[in-house]
Amino acid sequence: MALLTRTTEVVNSSLDLQEVMEAIAHEVAAALETDSAYVYLYDERTDELVLRATHGTSVTLETKTPRMRRGEGITGAAAADRAPVMIAADAHLDPRFKSFPNLPEDDYASILAVPILAREKLEGALNVRTKDPRAFTQAEVDLLMTIAGQVAQSIEHAKLYAQAQRRVLELEALARISEAVSESLYLEESLEAIVQTTVESTNATGAAVVLEDGRIAWPEGRAGAHAVRLPLRWRGRTIGELVVDRDTPFSDDDRQLLEAIASQAAVALEHGRMALRGVLAQEIHHRVKNNLQTVASLLRLQARAANVDPQKALGDSVNRILAIAAVHEVLTEHREDDVELDVLIDRLRSMLVQGLVAGKEVSSSLDPVWLEGQRATSLALVFSELFGNALEHGGGAISITLSGHDGEVVLMIADDGEGMQAAGDGTGLSIVRALVRDELGGELTLVDDDGLRAEVRFPAGTRKDERDDANPHR
Ligand SMILES: Nc1ncnc2c1ncn2[C@@H]1O[C@H](COP(=O)(O)OP(=O)(O)O)[C@@H](O)[C@H]1O
Ligand SMILES: [Mg+2]
Repeated sequence: MALLTRTTEVVNSSLDLQEVMEAIAHEVAAALETDSAYVYLYDERTDELVLRATHGTSVTLETKTPRMRRGEGITGAAAADRAPVMIAADAHLDPRFKSFPNLPEDDYASILAVPILAREKLEGALNVRTKDPRAFTQAEVDLLMTIAGQVAQSIEHAKLYAQAQRRVLELEALARISEAVSESLYLEESLEAIVQTTVESTNATGAAVVLEDGRIAWPEGRAGAHAVRLPLRWRGRTIGELVVDRDTPFSDDDRQLLEAIASQAAVALEHGRMALRGVLAQEIHHRVKNNLQTVASLLRLQARAANVDPQKALGDSVNRILAIAAVHEVLTEHREDDVELDVLIDRLRSMLVQGLVAGKEVSSSLDPVWLEGQRATSLALVFSELFGNALEHGGGAISITLSGHDGEVVLMIADDGEGMQAAGDGTGLSIVRALVRDELGGELTLVDDDGLRAEVRFPAGTRKDERDDANPHR
């Protein structure tokens, strides 16, 4: 009775299966005054009994865990027959006896083995042994059976508990992913969350999402001794792979969790792509509409100009539209809101010089300067007018400089021609003046100085992250 009470306490004191089994091994051996006690768990998948806890023997379960098939060995026979097996002496001579290299079992003369049954379900087996011959009484056999019944309960509880815990982990991981995915419109951020959650929830050394085109998105950590690759499926199609690395092998539970993450990742990937497409499409629509409006007002302005050769009017208009197109192209290519002006100016320059008679010498010195898309379009138009004028009315040598300091950008175009002298503004210069004033919030100076020197100064950051503070239009 005392033993039963104690084992009940032990069994109920912890939900950790390993702890319970070790305590049971000690309690049973002490109560029945045996030299050793072994507790085995039944592994349904492999139909094997796996030694999980021992008392009175020095087996290191970490190195090579003894396993035996149900029906194999004396304890295996008890499990297979679902009935106790008792051998009072010379147990190792029994035909059912099986020896393990790392278990010194030949020393024992007697053995009493019982199955661990939870209702009808086999959960394991346990045995006690003595070095001297000993016949266990029916009362002792019944006692061990009763204890085994209690252990069975605790095994079931522990399994349920482990399952519930796994489920909690899984739900936590999935919640984290879906939160990150729904918060972010950007695919990169979603992928980052998926990879990070994968690493954290499986103690992985590293993980990555491999996209359909073989591109590796967001690799994190390092490779490990073991790896699993899980296909990301969307409507029956594989749209990528989740690759996870770890130094320790992956259990069935880990795989289950990873499969849940992978299916969430597939949804995130697909939704992210669609969202991206949607956002990108909206931005592009918006920009195209703005650009068409700008083109319309430029043409209207040109149409109002008096005394202009229609050929030249059309040619100038074409250049203006091409300047707008160049900005649009840069913005769409890089999928950014900002344009690198030095790159843009370089592009416009070679575009405008094209098809021109030789003999013009153009030098440029351009600092890296960033400008937000809409203002970049204005600057592109300003540049193409001023540079076009230098090509059209100026001398043979043209120099372009772009520099940015202390929140101010200076664009200068100088040539060595006749200079403006008394010439008045045409359509080109009126466009330039309006854009510099209204869109760039800056100033234009035209100075005759051995040719015309046109200078545009306007506030803007010289680095991407600076422009927000410098831009008065925001
Ligand atoms: N770099 C320059 N060198 C000499 N004259 C210039 C220069 N830029 C502009 N001009 C003069 O200013 C006038 C107005 O220029 P603009 O408004 O661009 O009209 P357009 O180029 O169509 O004539 C030009 O016709 C020209 O006489
Ligand atoms: Mg002009």
